Amino acid sequence: MNIEKFKLLEKDKDKYIENGLISYSYVKDLKGIDKIKQCAYFLGKAKTIAVITGAGVSTDSGIPDFRSNTGIYSKVPEEIFDIKHFKKQPHDVQNLLINLFNDKDYKPNEIHNILSDLQTEKEVTIITQNIDYLHEKSGSKTVLSVHGTIRTGYCQQCKSKVNLEWEKGNIDLHALSCGCGGYIRPDIVFYGEDVKYLEEAKKAVKMADLVLVLGTSMRVYPIAELPRYTDANTPIIIINKDEVELSTDRMVVSFEDNILKVLKEILNELN
Ligand code: OAD
Repeated sequence: MNIEKFKLLEKDKDKYIENGLISYSYVKDLKGIDKIKQCAYFLGKAKTIAVITGAGVSTDSGIPDFRSNTGIYSKVPEEIFDIKHFKKQPHDVQNLLINLFNDKDYKPNEIHNILSDLQTEKEVTIITQNIDYLHEKSGSKTVLSVHGTIRTGYCQQCKSKVNLEWEKGNIDLHALSCGCGGYIRPDIVFYGEDVKYLEEAKKAVKMADLVLVLGTSMRVYPIAELPRYTDANTPIIIINKDEVELSTDRMVVSFEDNILKVLKEILNELN
């Protein structure tokens, strides 16, 4: 961060809102306040940031999201991610993951890199619903993969563990069958199972002095509830192409727009 640029924002701080204790209706139009500058001010001031991410941060890497027009759920029913469905018809999810990940070497994109760069000046916890491991690949150190990961798996029957190296191109239905006759399931969280690291995620949100919500429809619980755990003074910035509704009385500055574009505009005020 360019300190001189932040000082300029700070000098103008009467123009900005200082904290999260403000009504949602006021924030919706920000009464003429430049939203980008407002968010740059929040970002410049923040020392501890929690970032809640979803499939929208990985679309620039070539991985589809779930609920937009061309998302995964426009092609397959959401119920295939239910644990009861997996137990009856394991091949549905296995085939979907093979099509999505086998023989693909997805790379982190500029959004992942902006978030890992933030760590040089801030304490950043990424709370991701994504199973693609791209935050870790881009160098983010504190990543809570609350919906698990595709990089490891285990046999549903005998529980033996496996590493899944999708980028090598040798994962097919045969590789996802265990010698014991059971089926290998990746370490992802199915509907009907507990999400991982929930307490750590709540704590990260509670400790944060800024929360970013990026590329997620916030439709899946309990992650959709995390913003409720923010401290009273903590603002929340949402960047998502489609509208996101949060059930919180905190200050929410929302952009229905492209994540990378908005993040760059905000950073441009500080760098
Ligand atoms: P969704 O598909 O529900 O939401 C992703 C959002 O990102 C959509 O609203 C898109 O419009 C938006 N989006 C995509 N690309 C974008 C971009 N470049 N800029 C701005 N917005 C963009 O995905 P999640 O909220 O992550 O569960 O879904 C949550 C969970 O539902 C997933 O973790 C998955 C699924 O069932 C598991 O895999 C276990």
